[in-house]
Amino acid sequence: MSDATLFEQVKDEANRADPYPLFARLRETPVALQSDGTYVASTHAAITSLLHDPRVSSETLPPADRPKTGNPLSDWIVKPIRDRITDAHRPFIFRDPPDHDTLRKAVMHEFTNARVQALRARSHTLVDEILTKHAGSTEFDVVDDLAYPLPVTIICEMLGVPTEDEPRFHGWATQLATALEPDTLADTEARAENSRTFETISDYMTGLIKEKRRTPKDDMLSGLAGGGVPGVPRMGDYDLIATSILMLVAGHETTVNLIANATLALMRNPEELASLRRDPGRAPRLIEEVQRYDPPVQFRTRRALADIAIAGTTIPEGADIILLLASGNRDPAVFTDPDRFDPDRGGIRHLGFGGGLHYCIGAPLARFEAEAALTALAQRLDHPRLADDPPPYRPGSALRGPKHLRLAIDGIR
Ligand code: HEM
Repeated sequence: MSDATLFEQVKDEANRADPYPLFARLRETPVALQSDGTYVASTHAAITSLLHDPRVSSETLPPADRPKTGNPLSDWIVKPIRDRITDAHRPFIFRDPPDHDTLRKAVMHEFTNARVQALRARSHTLVDEILTKHAGSTEFDVVDDLAYPLPVTIICEMLGVPTEDEPRFHGWATQLATALEPDTLADTEARAENSRTFETISDYMTGLIKEKRRTPKDDMLSGLAGGGVPGVPRMGDYDLIATSILMLVAGHETTVNLIANATLALMRNPEELASLRRDPGRAPRLIEEVQRYDPPVQFRTRRALADIAIAGTTIPEGADIILLLASGNRDPAVFTDPDRFDPDRGGIRHLGFGGGLHYCIGAPLARFEAEAALTALAQRLDHPRLADDPPPYRPGSALRGPKHLRLAIDGIR
């Protein structure tokens, strides 16, 4: 019987710099009941099975707590509208089939190869511009100076969101991403703040979508707002807003951590940095190993729709489930010497982009952005050294990455 407070300890900021020993203890019981009634799945086999189980729901985001008007008649009249609007608080990452599949299909239709390839080339240009701007510096914050601005610019350009508006929704995106943290889901006030932010960003998006309908451009938002994927019902306005917010937040809050976690791994393994400098072709395997070894999305939440017997335990209907992806990635049953950072291990079946129905649709973007950033850092930073080890981490345990990753450098070539 494992310690029922282990997941509490994972969430504790004191363990942020290295939660991996706690995961090893959790894996002793593949699906472990915690003292708050949550079930934590921590082995590769248990997580994979639950990711593909139709009795496991992603609808974990409770409806928003909308203020009532105080007038019973008016509350009664607006209630159906309010219920429809609260649906917008569930982007498709928090939805089950059939709605999930319809919305995802509409987005995939806009993820054209031509669009992805154009953004890939654009990533390299952007990275070069950013580094050139810092030439002559003797200090470089990988997070603020590169890992954040790159994916943000790419997602804005892909969606067709004016980059000059970005400072306005920078804080909103960070706030909304807290919806992935179990403590936000459990706390009424935190959820209410999340809903307020959603309202604000929804207003911004509503204006932008109107504009896209008036004057469509060659961007994803114009495509989605125009509608018309053959065989797929047209997306309603609420879903369109929720979907565009999901993409914007995902683009802001994830790849930044992949680039920062990867740079940290390279700095701690200087022989890997040196080989990347000699051979930029090593970047893809390096990135897959970071997605295994230190993934930005550490876990996702789910809910049991029925009693589920798994690994000697029965998860009861209605229970919350944590899929501890980052722990499955360190499972010795699947990975030899799992705590070693080894880009050459080959055939990596990591869970860093999830699996099953909700597998990350932004994975190609994340991969090429990280590739552009890491190859350029390896080539152009002169004698980089870590200023802090461990670096300060961002709050929250679901999304993992340094808040800042300061390097001392002799210059930028
Ligand atoms: C889903 C990770 C980048 C858009 C997911 C999931 C993971 C993940 C683990 C599965 C969620 C679940 O099972 O509940 C990551 C990581 C990224 C990254 C680690 C960067 C390194 C992106 C980017 C975008 C994006 C750049 C934007 C285009 C999405 C969307 C979903 C998703 C829309 C929901 C898919 C669905 O529900 O069908 N991501 N992601 N992601 N990701 Fe990413």
